[in-house]
Amino acid sequence: MITGRTKLLAIIADPIAQVRTPQAMNTMLSEMGKDAVLVPAEVSREGLTSVVSGFRNIGNLAGVVVTVPHKTAVPPLCDTLSERAVATGAVNVIRRDAQGKLHGDILDGEGFTRGLDDAGISVSGMSVFLAGAGGAASAIAFALAARGPKKITISNRTQEKALALAERLSQSFPNVEFCAGDDPNGHDLAVNGTSLGMALDDALPFDPARVQPGAIVAEVIMQPEVTPLLEAAEQLGLATHGGRKMLQGQLSELAKFLTQDMEETL
Ligand SMILES: NC(=O)c1ccc[n+]([C@@H]2O[C@H](COP(=O)([O-])OP(=O)(O)OC[C@H]3O[C@@H](n4cnc5c(N)ncnc54)[C@H](OP(=O)(O)O)[C@@H]3O)[C@@H](O)[C@H]2O)c1
Repeated sequence: MITGRTKLLAIIADPIAQVRTPQAMNTMLSEMGKDAVLVPAEVSREGLTSVVSGFRNIGNLAGVVVTVPHKTAVPPLCDTLSERAVATGAVNVIRRDAQGKLHGDILDGEGFTRGLDDAGISVSGMSVFLAGAGGAASAIAFALAARGPKKITISNRTQEKALALAERLSQSFPNVEFCAGDDPNGHDLAVNGTSLGMALDDALPFDPARVQPGAIVAEVIMQPEVTPLLEAAEQLGLATHGGRKMLQGQLSELAKFLTQDMEETL
């Protein structure tokens, strides 16, 4: 039951209706025995700075999950950032400490690679094609690179962002080959890390017919659960890996991060 002692958590996005984190996180918080509730908040790009600044003044706010389109805009609004948030230039979770300071981290990449682990997929030695260079895709690229693939090819609508991401990755992982390119052919794993697939009339993020037989097609989109990309890949006889596995992979990490101060403050 929500009482005056309940800690407040939120998820900010625009739009907000499609998010699945509230149901999953509230179930997990209850299983963990935490007196906390996570609520959805629709926050526009224009309103983001004043909303995040206001978080410092909400005494019972423990933290906030950040999603589209705010992940890359939030880092400069935080007081401290994790190393991986600095490296990816994105934040998907903010913890508010007892002094009102905001600490940003990004757990999307961990979520994605944990989801692959849970499905028995090892990226070690693989050639990976990744569509996207936004917050989620950047975090996925860094987490994948840490698992020792042979090569990662990055494709993005704004090509300069793909090139810049490949360059940042090369500096952190000199033993992995990184390049920008739009053809998924010749890769063992092809990942959609863009927001394409959320709307019914979205274009496909890449052509699944160019994915080689035996390769896996993976998604970050959770709604719909079977995106047009996954449906096309299945029809081509390719193995698929849905976006929900990424959320499942990072929920426990998010819950740990957001509730780490709670025992002292409850
Ligand atoms: N399953 C999960 O647990 C999970 C976790 C995190 C995120 N996600 C999902 O991942 C998706 C991306 O999130 P994000 O935080 O990375 O967003 P973001 O930072 O706004 O990045 C969006 C990415 O999609 C590309 N894009 C957007 N619209 C496009 C279009 N019309 N044509 C081509 N490319 C387009 C962008 O390209 P440009 O750079 O050219 O703009 C960019 O690469 C969202 O759908 C989100 O729901 C899922």
